[in-house]
Amino acid sequence: MIRTLSSGAVLAAVLFAGSAYGASRDENLADPIVGVEDAVLTDAPNVPPPIHRDHATKVIIHLEVRELEGRLADGVRYTFWTFGGHVPGKFIRIREGDEVEFHLDNHPNNKNPHNIDLHAVNGPGGGAAASLTAPGHSSVFSFKALNPGLFVYHCATAPVAMHVGNGMYGLILVEPKQGLPKVDREYYLMQGDFYTHGANGEQGLQPFSMAKALDEKPDYVVFNGSVGSTVGDNALSAKVGETVRLFVGDGGPNVTSSFHAIGQIFDTVYPEGDLSAPAHNVQTTAIPAGGAAVTEFKMSAPGTFILVDHSLERAFNRGALAQLKATGPEDKLVYSGKQFDLVYQPEGTGIRVVTQGVQAPVAHTKDERVKLGADVFTNNCQACHQENGEGVPNAFPPLAKSDYLNGDKIRAIKTVTGGLETKLVVNGHEFNGVMPAWSLSDEDIADVLTYVYNTWGNSGLEVTPEEVNSHRIQAKP
Ligand code: CU
Repeated sequence: MIRTLSSGAVLAAVLFAGSAYGASRDENLADPIVGVEDAVLTDAPNVPPPIHRDHATKVIIHLEVRELEGRLADGVRYTFWTFGGHVPGKFIRIREGDEVEFHLDNHPNNKNPHNIDLHAVNGPGGGAAASLTAPGHSSVFSFKALNPGLFVYHCATAPVAMHVGNGMYGLILVEPKQGLPKVDREYYLMQGDFYTHGANGEQGLQPFSMAKALDEKPDYVVFNGSVGSTVGDNALSAKVGETVRLFVGDGGPNVTSSFHAIGQIFDTVYPEGDLSAPAHNVQTTAIPAGGAAVTEFKMSAPGTFILVDHSLERAFNRGALAQLKATGPEDKLVYSGKQFDLVYQPEGTGIRVVTQGVQAPVAHTKDERVKLGADVFTNNCQACHQENGEGVPNAFPPLAKSDYLNGDKIRAIKTVTGGLETKLVVNGHEFNGVMPAWSLSDEDIADVLTYVYNTWGNSGLEVTPEEVNSHRIQAKP
């Protein structure tokens, strides 16, 4: 009995003395303040440099709220409400025990009052009531950083979901006294969901939709404030052999992130932004709305690594996709790339193929061709282009009333036989996906194209096997 009590007492002592990383609240509260400095604030994806101080100090933070029109997606404008001019808000980096003097400046051109709730604050509203600020005013409040960790901050002015939904969130890192392990690169990514009056992709300046926010049905789920913010020339970068740390937050207002790097295992994850209890060898980490996580990994292979919300509809159709490009030498032992492309014929398929070749039905009239083409479509094309030929917005182009198809029959034959890997515009919408080259007979391709041309309001023309044969890109199967 005595034994049990004493081990419980030891456990309690460990819990309240603070964790392996960071000191206890009481220690941080008692930590004397030495000196004063202005905080270094950065826009995503950049992170302020690590703190090397061995003492607590007074940190002055000026964060300016701006209401600004900007790009949400190609051709889609949005009036963002921001902490510092960008979404997400400025990255703030302090040390546990620091005393923060926080100035929230609401720019005179803004139309709305705003405030800030920092999850790193112990106090009512996380600073919200103390910082409620009218346009053209500035509020000041102070707090002592008692708990280390990676924390979200956000506006908490009613209607809160609207202020947050317009982009009012960011991250504040309270470094433990020991600091974080040294890495070669640090980046800042924050997911958020957006609700627009028009559907995803609808052009022009889009107002916030309260109805969709209430239904929690976002039109966009993005990293760092817009679709494609962190791809191409703006992708994160690293070299093979380097270690990378991502500070990842989810501003919401509603949607949780299943954060994942395609082709990259997280060596270390600090779930919930808790720096004291890292997990290792993690594939996907859940980041709740209003939460954060730190992920670390070493680049073992060159290439483009895609960072996504693994709720994949959001990644591939609503924007939650970023890139990290790694350069450096390949190690074929780590990853070989494609080594072979061999013919695969399970037992019995040889006969089936031959039979199909001999007995494949041949159309004698255009009507027969349309009928046979419907089957070819169902078996090969429907999964992407959909039963009604409408395709899937932002993913698969429509075949119905398609200017791309109706404009050029030869091009259609070349597309089906050769595939497509380039950007294309169909009926005014841009598509970036990949269409495979179809290994189908001249007869099948003539049938399916004739079916498509005679369905869903298309031009009604016929494609013959002879035309396919003379314009096909890939050799016949
Ligand atoms: Cu606000």
